[in-house]
Amino acid sequence: MFAKEVYWQRRKMLREMVGDGIILFPGNEESSMNYGANTYHFRQDSSFLYFFGINKPGFYGVCDVDGDQDRLYGDDFTIDDIIWMGEQPAVSDLAKEVAVESSASLNDLTAFLKQALQSGRKVHLLPTYRGDHVVKLAQLIGVDYEEVSKLISQELIASVVKLRSIKDQYEISEIEKAVDVARIMHTTAMKMAYPGNFERELAGAIEGIALSHGGPVSFPVILSMDGQTLHNHYHGNELTEGRMVVCDAGAETTMGYASDITRTYPVGGKFSTQQKDIYNIVLQANSETIKASLPGRPYREVHLMAARIIAGGLKELGIMKGDLDEAVAAGAHALFFPHGLGHMLGLDVHDMEGLGENNVGYSESLKRSDQFGLAYLRLGRELEPGFVVTNEPGCYFIPALIDQWKGEKKHSQFINYDQVEKYRGFGGVRIEDDVLITETGSRVLGTPIPKTVEEVEETMSV
Ligand code: GLY
Repeated sequence: MFAKEVYWQRRKMLREMVGDGIILFPGNEESSMNYGANTYHFRQDSSFLYFFGINKPGFYGVCDVDGDQDRLYGDDFTIDDIIWMGEQPAVSDLAKEVAVESSASLNDLTAFLKQALQSGRKVHLLPTYRGDHVVKLAQLIGVDYEEVSKLISQELIASVVKLRSIKDQYEISEIEKAVDVARIMHTTAMKMAYPGNFERELAGAIEGIALSHGGPVSFPVILSMDGQTLHNHYHGNELTEGRMVVCDAGAETTMGYASDITRTYPVGGKFSTQQKDIYNIVLQANSETIKASLPGRPYREVHLMAARIIAGGLKELGIMKGDLDEAVAAGAHALFFPHGLGHMLGLDVHDMEGLGENNVGYSESLKRSDQFGLAYLRLGRELEPGFVVTNEPGCYFIPALIDQWKGEKKHSQFINYDQVEKYRGFGGVRIEDDVLITETGSRVLGTPIPKTVEEVEETMSV
């Protein structure tokens, strides 16, 4: 937990921004796997964690904007809970740890909310993403399930996005810790990427590293020789010479902050010429767009710069052709780079995505494109000092997409389909770093993780 003043200050700023009414933050509950008592790893709601800091199930936080005070609602543990779980702090003690003036039971929350709504006060709620929240909120407030969504507040969403987007020094240091764990995960997987090992051995080893450093992985490990599948969670293949492993994985700190790193490497530790050619195009897109990630610059521009670099590299290999600006404007590069350059990172690996991607990554003046490829860019708006973003260009040869576009002769003025065929079984390359936008530019967070061809080969050789 951060110092209690941090949470107090965040809630104070939020109350001032929202202006009036009551802000209700439901914390998460335990979630069962196959029977009630056998639960998934507990993950607190990130906005609850940001404003109320308590990493335990069963709590609600209220910021009473009109009354200029906050309250924590939850039920004290019973002796039965204590027998199974050990000594537990009282709700009032937890409230004090995050500088909340008062606490009360969940029954009191029901009465408070009913009274507030009856007297015409506005209750502000963030979008819900768990069914159990909707059920619980409907019960608490005494309304039908459909009515709960009427409490979702655009003012609250905008205010929370504004606050959570700018990371302070404590949050940056947490993210750096998460990146440093990811560094151990990725270098371990690299060293294990030898023929005869199975993908699942690498995936299991790195998940264990995250756990052994105190947090789980920040999202299910993506690791496969079939890296052309962007989010490949199948780890059943035996590694074979001539293929490359794409590993996209990160850790979460005990405070809930995430890292999100991708590295790609050849099974056996030596890049072939063809692998090196594609790898270096992606590496150039990664390093040049990190340098170009400046405050005030729309991230969409940086994404399009990555697209231009990838298209340029592919043109040199004879895979693309024609005018590169026209090719990128038409979206022809998206056959090979069909996703966005990056997204915000923080307490969520896709930070605040539960509040609506467009609320986080776009603005009134910049709307999301609907062009294939560009439409997947989660963050388009102007970068600001304090943003932490991922930078993750990639180049993939996706047989089903190649077949579809080739059949349609799509963008055939920009794509040499005969040449593309030579890469059909190639897989994909993605390289991803976590980047802080500073007052004057940007900085890659954490201790550097091997990235150039030479660094990767050197790491794999020992
Ligand atoms: N690195 C996983 C993701 O961005 O979805």
